[in-house]
Amino acid sequence: MIAIGSDHAGFKLKEEIKKYLKEKGIEHKDYGCFSEERTDYPIYGELVARAVASGEAEKGLLFCGTGVGISLAANKVKGIRAVVCSDCYTAKMSKEHNDTNILAMGSRVVGVELAKMILDCWLNAKFEGGRHQRRIDMITEIENKR
Ligand code: RB5
Repeated sequence: MIAIGSDHAGFKLKEEIKKYLKEKGIEHKDYGCFSEERTDYPIYGELVARAVASGEAEKGLLFCGTGVGISLAANKVKGIRAVVCSDCYTAKMSKEHNDTNILAMGSRVVGVELAKMILDCWLNAKFEGGRHQRRIDMITEIENKR
């Protein structure tokens, strides 16, 4: 299952991506927000991040105006590696080399069709392990020092 969330700025893009996931038959759960009423991105960044970190969800998708704030919030949860993307190369490499478990995008940065393409690049990519795992472990060590 994919956990999905946004603030008010990312709401419309989240709804479009939900439709896309449904078309593709990909199971997902919406953690809010549920309207364009102004709210705060850390709430949804944390909700989705906790769902992923606990194993309730396999991965997460987050949307805000830039994708920055909501990914910063998600990255504060232990075990989360959230990336903000506005291009397919970064999305693909962030999975292959960094094993990202949350993809964030900015609704004021990418259009709906580009967002779908970036999502496909990320979903289709596979973590390569090997030397990359060693570096992920180093990141985890930093996290464990907190
Ligand atoms: C909301 O206006 C905006 O600040 C938020 O969606 C996001 O872009 C923050 O990083």
